[in-house]
Amino acid sequence: MMTEGKPDLLTQRIKQAAEVIAVSSPVIALTGAGISVESGIPDFRGKNGLWSKYDPARYATIDAFLSDPVEVWNMLREMDELVLAAKPNPAHTALGILEKKGFLQHIITQNIDNLHQAGGSLNVIEYHGNCSTLSCLSCNRRYSMEEKRHEYLPTCECGRILKPDIVFFGEGIPEEVLNLSFDIARKARVLLIIGTSAQVSPANTIPVVASKNNARVIEINKEKTWLTEQLTDIFLEGGAGDIVSGLLKEIIKTGA
Ligand code: APR
Repeated sequence: MMTEGKPDLLTQRIKQAAEVIAVSSPVIALTGAGISVESGIPDFRGKNGLWSKYDPARYATIDAFLSDPVEVWNMLREMDELVLAAKPNPAHTALGILEKKGFLQHIITQNIDNLHQAGGSLNVIEYHGNCSTLSCLSCNRRYSMEEKRHEYLPTCECGRILKPDIVFFGEGIPEEVLNLSFDIARKARVLLIIGTSAQVSPANTIPVVASKNNARVIEINKEKTWLTEQLTDIFLEGGAGDIVSGLLKEIIKTGA
């Protein structure tokens, strides 16, 4: 943010990042839970993250769901309440405007909260699925979370407990999502990485693929990650809401 006299380092770096984005195409974004924290959805590995309350080995693997769906639905219900109450924050809406103005071509999100779409983005690839629909692992019937929310244990008419259409640990990423994401990462001229610790594979290979194909990497995070030293070109340290809004303002100022 501007201080007396000389703009501070972050302000200078936001300007630098805006100048790169304004003249590059395609520009893509990879987002993680950090972009939705300001919407009231905790991240996973932060101090009050979801995994500090629920052991992912017991709640977030496909084996856990198959062996004890009742217990896993205790966590899923809490996540559903957080997602239901969440609204897009300035980071989501700024990305939606960047897409509308032609400065952003795709978002690959690890999030399942639908907030990019609610924030106006259209080209969203949901790498880990979306929690707004449920599927039956026995008869393949599908339901919306909306119609099943009133059931304490959402159950299929065939009698089986339903599974949200999200990717659990131990499940593969759908082939078409994997291939499309790899392809747009390979072609990207700029990769914006927002609010991810990049701990989870294969999502965390996307920055490597983009960087190996000479994309400029701009990372937005409250703290450094392993990406910062290894492949980030411009690191914008701070909250996603402020920084992405600041980026949008600077990009529009370039008049590109
Ligand atoms: N602004 C910017 N960055 C933030 C903010 C914020 N307001 N709040 C938190 N962060 C950063 C944290 O510093 C951290 O680096 O967001 C990152 C969140 O990391 P994780 O909690 O590990 O979330 P994510 O990277 O999305 O996890 C990937 O792991 O558990 C699985 O399927 C789950 O999709 C998830 C995947």
